[in-house]
Amino acid sequence: MNLRQLFLNSVAQTSPAPVGIQVKKAKGIYITSLDGKRYVDLISGISVNNIGHRNDAVVNAVRKQTSRYLHTMVYGEHVQHPQVRLAQLLTSLLPSHLDSVYFTNSGTEATEGAMKLAKRFTGRTNIVAMKNAYHGSTQGALSLMSNEYFTAAYRPLLSGVSFIDYNHSSNFEAINNHTACVFIEIIQSEAGYIPGEIEFLKALKKRCSETGALLVVDEIQTGIGRTGTMFSFEQTGVEPDILLLAKGLGGGMPIGCFIANKKVMETLSENPVLGHLTTFGGHPVSCAAAIATLEEITSKKMMESVDRKEQMFRKFLFHPKINAITGKGLMLGVHLGDEKTVQDVIAKCYEKGLLIDWFLFNDKALRIAPPLIITEGEIKKVCKIITDSLE
Ligand SMILES: Cc1ncc(COP(=O)(O)O)c(C=O)c1O
Repeated sequence: MNLRQLFLNSVAQTSPAPVGIQVKKAKGIYITSLDGKRYVDLISGISVNNIGHRNDAVVNAVRKQTSRYLHTMVYGEHVQHPQVRLAQLLTSLLPSHLDSVYFTNSGTEATEGAMKLAKRFTGRTNIVAMKNAYHGSTQGALSLMSNEYFTAAYRPLLSGVSFIDYNHSSNFEAINNHTACVFIEIIQSEAGYIPGEIEFLKALKKRCSETGALLVVDEIQTGIGRTGTMFSFEQTGVEPDILLLAKGLGGGMPIGCFIANKKVMETLSENPVLGHLTTFGGHPVSCAAAIATLEEITSKKMMESVDRKEQMFRKFLFHPKINAITGKGLMLGVHLGDEKTVQDVIAKCYEKGLLIDWFLFNDKALRIAPPLIITEGEIKKVCKIITDSLE
């Protein structure tokens, strides 16, 4: 059996038709396959490789940390320099009330932790989420998914979850004094990169403050520079009570976190103690990689060009079959009107060495989320490949 057959045979599959590139190497915005073909990665696998694949500073930080120590003890028991420094760095970038970081291995675990934290702190059980949101795939996170197709087979899920329409302030009565928290994405990722309207986000925050519900902002896809600021809530005037990060944070290494006020977070350490546990959360190698990632984004001023690059995509992705381009910064949804066109364009782009994707809850749009380091020349080239594929 060749490697591809072994992959299909022995690695658990989640779809009948995986892309299945046999990866040899990845660097910058490129992934090279075993047969020597080079692909431009226009989705950053997905929204992870914000600073490009195998960034030198990240690789060096990983090397350095592996020469010191790997895992020593379950989360929270030992003082580990990379964890402490990363928590300090993250909180220095955030509003002062977000001063305590709980590290996880992934985004869905950050969601789980935030749900538990909000229930514990408020003493309430109900949770409100947005229709068409995606917060992860474990049973708690899946409970926050409105889409029946993906959830029905796994019921029963958590009770006490209700859904409201994104960008509609009309059914805020679902948020009341039984609500522990409300989950929101600043840009709804899997709906097709649909930005939250500022007035809606502000009204939501107001409703949360009035009812005592905590506002959980999921920046697992929007964070780490993707929309031109380190966190996209910075552009809205709405501050989270709990912030979720993952994906791009580790520069290609697995890490996530939920961040809240220390007073809120302290509820996890008392009555009962050990309110949330993880063995590997905040792994020192991942934390070292995350520090390097944040430092690279800042020192190389990677966020400064995001707005200009967004405008270039909007200018060069011009074609009669493109109905709309939604999103912000380098997370753009190119809406094409029908699923077949989307699938045809994805296949054509793949042939021409361009990795592009669709969305979980929107099969009529293309996902564009390249590494932030993509150059203006490369943007012109990839836009031409996409518009040629639309012909
Ligand atoms: C907005 C959002 N939240 C949560 C998650 C879950 O993160 P993970 O896949 O790391 O568990 C994802 C993953 O795609 C996401 O896009």
